[in-house]
Amino acid sequence: MTSSVRHIPVMLKEVLENLSIQNKKTYVDATFGNGGYTEAILNSADCKVIAIDRDPSVIQRATELKEKYGNRFEFRAGTFGELSGLVKEDVDGVVFDIGVSSMQLDDGFRGFSFNKEAPLDMRMSLDGISAKDIVNNLSEEELADILYNYGEEKKSRQIAHKIILYRQTKEIETTTELAEIIYSVLPKKFGQIDPATRTFQAIRIAVNDELNQLKNGLEAATKIIKEEGRIVVVTFHSLEDRIVKNFFTGNTSKKVHVSKYNHDDVVCDDKLFSISSKAIIPTQKECGINPRARSAKLRYAIKKKGLK
Ligand SMILES: C[S@@+](CC[C@H](N)C(=O)[O-])C[C@H]1O[C@@H](n2cnc3c(N)ncnc32)[C@H](O)[C@@H]1O
Repeated sequence: MTSSVRHIPVMLKEVLENLSIQNKKTYVDATFGNGGYTEAILNSADCKVIAIDRDPSVIQRATELKEKYGNRFEFRAGTFGELSGLVKEDVDGVVFDIGVSSMQLDDGFRGFSFNKEAPLDMRMSLDGISAKDIVNNLSEEELADILYNYGEEKKSRQIAHKIILYRQTKEIETTTELAEIIYSVLPKKFGQIDPATRTFQAIRIAVNDELNQLKNGLEAATKIIKEEGRIVVVTFHSLEDRIVKNFFTGNTSKKVHVSKYNHDDVVCDDKLFSISSKAIIPTQKECGINPRARSAKLRYAIKKKGLK
């Protein structure tokens, strides 16, 4: 990895509180990154962490933590979409910190950022279909759908059309080439969010199949946690937060009001979780220190007793 930037863990205090870390328990950090959550969990109690990441460039950091924490720490390479294959043991909590790390964004060769000239890549795992494959091979309609569905980009059709026109002259090879195509539809305006943000987010989500990964990861986490085990998820945009919210509420008993004469709520109690009623957001202080935290939302769920 060429990056010198270190990732600052987002909402760390809230993650630790809501995972409810205890001695002799085992936790999964499904998005190891720079190991910020992992190290804090290991320092909070005499517990064990199994860490997962799909990015091979985190191995060096994982090796450092292995030397420091010995058999209290284990790193397993892979995607959290395949969590049930990677973690066979029952665990007490799983934490997800969804998205890219500051190291990935900053690395000049990864192609995640429109601010840095780099080959159009965006693959967290460093294998599979790249952003370059997507923008140069998909049809106009398929591209527009990706930009609309994953980036909520209102000008998706116009941007997709410009991509197709550009492709007739040459392949799109770099991040800055793609950004310039986007700016030809949506010019940059001082003080406003960069118009390439939504398109880059959409292509990154498509390259890494991020939304399916999240759905599969949540399903798998539900299976590997013990009763009273916890799932904590930090997300950074509304598409991800909606998936987490719907998954948790879909697995939670609802209070159903049955009669206008009987004010007792009837609770169906065969569901999996009790959950945080609202998303927890970072403090203003944290957002001031770490602007990346501004869009973060944390939700957690606790598996009910008596359910497998
Ligand atoms: C926001 S960073 C995590 C930072 C970490 N919490 C820390 O404090 O250092 C997200 C990490 O999750 C990894 N990741 C994203 N999606 C993944 C997936 N589906 N499976 C495994 N790892 C994934 C990324 O490669 C990245 O390293």
